[in-house]
Amino acid sequence: SNSIDLAVIPGDGIGPEVVAEAVKVLRRATEGGVEVKLTDYDLGASHWLETGEVLNDDTLAAIRQHDAILFGAVGAAPGDTRIPSGLIERELLLKLRFTLDHFVNLRPAKLYPGVPSPLSHPGDIDFVVVREGTEGPYVGNGGALRVGTEHEIATEVSINTAHGVERVVRDAFARAAERERKKVTLVHKHNVLVNAGHLWRRTVESVAAEFPEVSHDYMHVDAATIFMTTDPGRFDVIVTDNLFGDILTDLAGAVTGGIGLAASGNINMDRTEPSMFEPVHGSAPDIAGQQKADPTAAILSVALLLEHVGLPEAARAVERAVEEDITSRAELTDERSTAEIGDAIVSLVA
Ligand code: NAD
Ligand code: IPM
Ligand code: MN
Repeated sequence: SNSIDLAVIPGDGIGPEVVAEAVKVLRRATEGGVEVKLTDYDLGASHWLETGEVLNDDTLAAIRQHDAILFGAVGAAPGDTRIPSGLIERELLLKLRFTLDHFVNLRPAKLYPGVPSPLSHPGDIDFVVVREGTEGPYVGNGGALRVGTEHEIATEVSINTAHGVERVVRDAFARAAERERKKVTLVHKHNVLVNAGHLWRRTVESVAAEFPEVSHDYMHVDAATIFMTTDPGRFDVIVTDNLFGDILTDLAGAVTGGIGLAASGNINMDRTEPSMFEPVHGSAPDIAGQQKADPTAAILSVALLLEHVGLPEAARAVERAVEEDITSRAELTDERSTAEIGDAIVSLVA
């Protein structure tokens, strides 16, 4: 395509800082070939404090008209009592993921050459987590009774549908089939969560039959955290539910050099709605406004976006630029500002 029309939601905290750099790289990577139209949407905790609104129907309808969404991060500082915890996350971020049916939450984990891992023996780490994005305990099917009393009961019910599990498992196998090692690992906890766990396991078995070239295995999520720290090189494609995938991908980010490098795509594989690309990290209130955030995760999310909108060459150019910048970091004391890292990557896009 030679034009793309994107919604940009910078959000809160470091969100606008990293998105500014991601946009610079996006412009450079598409320069001279693709017309890029960007529309900013001011949404998030700050917007709610100013207006009392999280996401109104008109804004949601407008966002749906774009080809894709670039998202920074939203959310208040944990100690900020003016904003109810979960309000912005549920009513903005999760509302977008659910309404736009982002059933594949794709989170690659790759240890680039030269990047220091906190692991003493990291080995070759190059896997992707295919996290289910529309179901599980995230759906908000729960409630609280007798709140504040000693008889309070709080429930969060995990929803797993045959349709929802099958489409994400099929996506994981299809991705594995395109990769060198062609291996899918289902991560769940079917020794305890027998209802959902067995649905996932049966689904993997039946989808696996359609992909004879792809091997598959299974790991309980607690054991997966062991192997992700002792032998992460064993993973190729991990498929898992929404909550396990959330937790595992922060860990995956940490072992591959830090959450400042971890990118993600919330993808509607049916392409009936715009997909949304965002760093895995949050608004990082502890470093916000100081140009201390690493914009690389947001920039790598732009690469995922470009790939999705049919610009694989531009995507590769961004990835190569990031890889080149990252590889040189071992020698830097990395005191660079957010903008300095962004500018360095822009200058490497060829
Ligand atoms: P966080 O990811 O914002 O921060 C965790 C730690 O990682 C902090 O020390 C932070 O400084 C550091 N960090 C994060 N991104 C970084 C970057 N690019 N460069 C360097 N360091 C970075 O997680 P949190 O503190 O648990 O959450 C803060 C807020 O963000 C909460 O309101 C939470 O709900 C929200 N959140 C939003 C998203 C999102 O918008 N997708 C994701 C996670 C958390
Ligand atoms: C992430 C975040 C979100 C999630 C929150 C902020 C709703 O942690 O994108 O990983 O749990 O999915
Ligand atoms: Mn998370």
